[in-house]
Amino acid sequence: MASSSCLSILVLVVALLASSASAQLSSTFYDTSCPKAMSTIKSAVTTAVNNEPRMGASLLRLHFHDCFVDASPSPALPWRRDSTNASKSNANSDLPGPSFNLANLTQLFANKGLNVTEMVALSGGHTIGQAQCRFFRDHIYNDTNINSTFASSLQGNCPQASGSGDANLAPLDATSATSFDNAYFTNLLSQKGLLHSDQELFNGGAADSTVQSFASSSSAFSSAFAAAMVKMGNISPKTGTQGQIRLACSKVNS
Ligand code: HEM
Ligand SMILES: *[C@@H]1O[C@H](CO)[C@@H](O)[C@H](O)[C@H]1NC(C)=O
Ligand SMILES: *[C@@H]1O[C@H](CO)[C@@H](O)[C@H](O)[C@H]1NC(C)=O
Ligand SMILES: *[C@@H]1O[C@H](CO)[C@@H](O)[C@H](O)[C@H]1NC(C)=O
Ligand SMILES: *[C@@H]1O[C@H](CO)[C@@H](O)[C@H](O)[C@H]1NC(C)=O
Ligand SMILES: *[C@@H]1O[C@H](CO)[C@@H](O)[C@H](O)[C@H]1NC(C)=O
Repeated sequence: MASSSCLSILVLVVALLASSASAQLSSTFYDTSCPKAMSTIKSAVTTAVNNEPRMGASLLRLHFHDCFVDASPSPALPWRRDSTNASKSNANSDLPGPSFNLANLTQLFANKGLNVTEMVALSGGHTIGQAQCRFFRDHIYNDTNINSTFASSLQGNCPQASGSGDANLAPLDATSATSFDNAYFTNLLSQKGLLHSDQELFNGGAADSTVQSFASSSSAFSSAFAAAMVKMGNISPKTGTQGQIRLACSKVNS
């Protein structure tokens, strides 16, 4: 699959969200006030991803952060209302980091009502996009649960000394960097996770069997990912008079 598959997943997620009305969010929210919302977003996202494949990854990550951090500014996507304020401390306490171990990751996802299966499925979002050297440096120089050929190849563009090459990028899924598939999981089976936190999902612990099942079945991954994305989208959304719908997505309404 090519970069357009990133887009198709986003569109699929939009479609799933649209078809799964919950007690908190309404899929028909814009039906009368802005009936062309979905088609407008779809064509804008299509154009953006066609111009820059990484845009799909940026939007997916933004959605994850928006759902996990209360009072964070929302992405310019209309199914969640925008906050009027942001909280750096909430972002720091609620978002997982690349140095986290399996217990740390499990705890943060459990805090949001997501179990290990859902956490593993959502982590499959790392089948697209890239990470900076400073986030995987320790893993490629200091960890032992990494394929040594893979580690050496990454070291070429990520110097060991902190401060040099910190922002250099590597794909989160080196096998098929822009394709939304289950290669993230097959990579983990051969110790080719980019982040320490990625490889923690397949390191002899309770998440191993789920990684194995998604590695052996892309359809099992796809359906678990879609369901978990919908569930994540429903984490404490603002409804009613909470928050606002921005007129310009880059700033709070005046
Ligand atoms: C399990 C815990 C997670 C950790 C520790 C984690 C950590 C990270 C880190 C460190 C980066 C690189 C950021 C950078 O270099 O600037 C990244 C990128 C990314 N993450 Fe995660 N992440 C996690 C879960 C998720 C989830 C649940 C999703 C979506 C469902 C997601 C989607 C992405 C995407 C798409 C990128 C690439 C963004 C781009 O290329 O611009 N991540 N993540
Ligand atoms: C954001 O604003 C709301 C409404 O005024 C308030 O209840 C909440 O505590 C604020 N959150 C932060 C992180 O400042
Ligand atoms: C991560 O887990 C370790 C124990 O495994 C614990 O000592 C540490 O405080 C945890 N860190 C976070 C950020 O949860
Ligand atoms: C985790 O959630 C999934 C999806 O809701 C569910 O099918 C599964 O049984 C749950 N797993 C556990 C261990 O509770
Ligand atoms: C690796 O571990 C050593 C020894 O603990 C430490 O000095 C170094 O900063 C760590 N990180 C890297 C990237 O080598
Ligand atoms: C590590 O990866 C390389 C390149 O893909 C492969 O040839 C090698 O067999 C792997 N090593 C191990 C121990 O799996």
